Amino acid sequence: MTPRRLPSEFLLGCATAAHQVEGGIENDWSRFERQRPSPVADGSDASTAIDHYRRYAEDLQQLAAGDQDAHRFSVEWARVEPEAGCFDSAALRHYRDVVRVCRRLDMEPVVTLQHFTLPRWLAERGGVVNPAAPRLFARYAAACAETLGDSVVWWLTINEPAVLAVQGYLNGLWPPQQRSIGGALAALRGLLRMHAAGASAVHDVARRHGWDARVSVAHHERRLRPRAGATPLDRAAAVLPDFIFNRWFLRSCVAGRMLPPVGDGRRVPDLRGSLDFLGVNYYSEDTVSFDARVPLTLFASMAPDPDLPRSAFGWAIHPAGLRRALNELWLETRLPLLVTENGVADNDDELRPRYIVAHLNAVLDAIDDGADVRGYLHWTAWDNFEWAEGYTKRFGLYAVDRETLSRTPKPSAALFAEICRTRSVPDAARVTALAR
Ligand code: NOJ
Repeated sequence: MTPRRLPSEFLLGCATAAHQVEGGIENDWSRFERQRPSPVADGSDASTAIDHYRRYAEDLQQLAAGDQDAHRFSVEWARVEPEAGCFDSAALRHYRDVVRVCRRLDMEPVVTLQHFTLPRWLAERGGVVNPAAPRLFARYAAACAETLGDSVVWWLTINEPAVLAVQGYLNGLWPPQQRSIGGALAALRGLLRMHAAGASAVHDVARRHGWDARVSVAHHERRLRPRAGATPLDRAAAVLPDFIFNRWFLRSCVAGRMLPPVGDGRRVPDLRGSLDFLGVNYYSEDTVSFDARVPLTLFASMAPDPDLPRSAFGWAIHPAGLRRALNELWLETRLPLLVTENGVADNDDELRPRYIVAHLNAVLDAIDDGADVRGYLHWTAWDNFEWAEGYTKRFGLYAVDRETLSRTPKPSAALFAEICRTRSVPDAARVTALAR
């Protein structure tokens, strides 16, 4: 197989999130991390993370030296608005400088406004289910758009709303550590309204200034399919969780209404027209079997397909799922697609080279099939704070020494740089040799 060329103008880079890399943040997560016994696998916290808040200029320089031409990062709401209604101009200036550095290095900035964390003042007042959360999020989004909008085109309102609802409100593993179906559905409704309000705020600011702004949510696609040899009960158990997790939010955006069974079908202000493109985070798929002991997940028990290889997280590695996801999402929305995350927990960088090549080939397959895919952002640049897994799961192209915080390229960093430089995906055989 010869190397396959990526389309011209295709964005290639990495994605990060403030809380996972910056350090020095006080938000709902930093409080959660201080609980004892620790709710984080290795007892660690993100108080230093990888010190990216101070090292961003050299960090971004490192990615640009690897020929990346796009960079996704998130603005930390708790920094920008540490008290309700009080905006910190120094924090806003910081993110303005991050964008300036991206532009100077010819990297297209892709900005996320909320990546799992909340300012404490909002978390203490109900967080995403507070009826005022959409208005408050819109005010914050407008401040970000006013500050960054002359240099940022690609905006993501909320990262993975369904994951936040499941981990924070159903599984109780993340703040606010709740375990109820009703709570998770309320969180989804709140996040949908927040997305609509935030998207509208960014659009309004851009319109007023005559700036180009393309807005989306970062949707996590993780299909839940009946297990091999499924019984009718297994098949039935997969339907609702798969719809709620993978399609409800998007279809509600397209319809402009809060669709059943999560909502009552009523129109949501500003929801229609809130997506100019679709950000897609893809890692894996799961199989479902019926299990009467798990009412919280609507009797669906999730597991990786036993026939597929797995990452260090135990997630099934399935590049064909990315091709299928992009094709389905394209046919369903007809929106330009941007892969806003894709990567693998792989502590020794054994799987990552092949993972990258196989998933980029899946993107190229989807493009050949007709999907309008505008770019690929790898999760992630540097090993970082992986939420409740602490530093035990490593997704980076660069290793970060936990003592010295020095960054060291892994073999996959060289491979990704070669892909970015040549703007083509090498053949699988070469990468197998490289990975050995
Ligand atoms: C998706 C999330 O957006 C990101 O924060 C996380 O680190 C990766 N998945 C890997 O789990």
